[in-house]
Amino acid sequence: MTIFNLGSINADHVYRVPHLPGAGETLAARSMQTGLGGKGANMSVAAARAGSHVAHIGAVGKDGLWARDRLMEYGVDTRHIAQLDVPTGHAIINVDDAGENAITLLSGANQEISEDAIGQALSAGQTGDILVMQNETNAQSAAAKAGSKLGFRVCYAAAPFDADAVKAVLPFLDFLILNEVEAQQLEAALGRQIEDMDVADIIVTLGSKGARWINAASGTDQHFEALKVTPVDTTGAGDTFTGYVLSALDRGLSMGQAISLAMRAAALMVTRMGTADVIPDLKEVEAFSGL
Ligand code: RIB
Repeated sequence: MTIFNLGSINADHVYRVPHLPGAGETLAARSMQTGLGGKGANMSVAAARAGSHVAHIGAVGKDGLWARDRLMEYGVDTRHIAQLDVPTGHAIINVDDAGENAITLLSGANQEISEDAIGQALSAGQTGDILVMQNETNAQSAAAKAGSKLGFRVCYAAAPFDADAVKAVLPFLDFLILNEVEAQQLEAALGRQIEDMDVADIIVTLGSKGARWINAASGTDQHFEALKVTPVDTTGAGDTFTGYVLSALDRGLSMGQAISLAMRAAALMVTRMGTADVIPDLKEVEAFSGL
């Protein structure tokens, strides 16, 4: 089966800083590195490294051809990544000594993806394929609607959080992944508890406290413990989690097994500095047991 990912592709400029800068502050970084990122690209790389066939749907400018090539080198099917006449998206990421980050995004080509191109890409799929999106591209609701009509399992990772963006895709979703703060924001925006959202499966990630899985059909509300690690950089850990969960489901694992594997992948990811380029592969994840 295929995981289709309507997803962002960014050049990530990662600055190691003593603390996250405050308003009006000028701060000297200790180091800087540039690599492949974007929540979409990170999820595609994670799912491909976990063993799935991933077709990324997205766009870059001329300045981002390296990013498309790199996705291909990492095993992602890049035939549905367009080259447009606008700059590639990029992110300025500050990471402090505790591994926490602050991210500034410029969307660029990520907001210029054509709905026709999305339709063409999805028409190559089949019932039971997975479609995943995050909130860093345009055309999310059109893609969700098309994916749902084609019988795909439609998944949304609600980051960066925007209540209106979630509302627009909610009627088409089979699967929603969001963190604790995003879950509270969604509850406030919709006036409903997260378990009453009318989505078959919901995962709320809780950082070092683990994750919660809510399954509407069985009434399951299960907690999963996180592995203990010393964080170096939390950037991309959530994306790694999502990519690994989807890949595990695509490969026929149960949701419980998928979440356990994805928690392990995310835990290993926070011990590494960087984003897509350092996402671990399945062998590394299976060998990892935390502190
Ligand atoms: O989730 C981490 C990602 O957010 C980074 O790779 C950055 O590009 C932003 O999209």
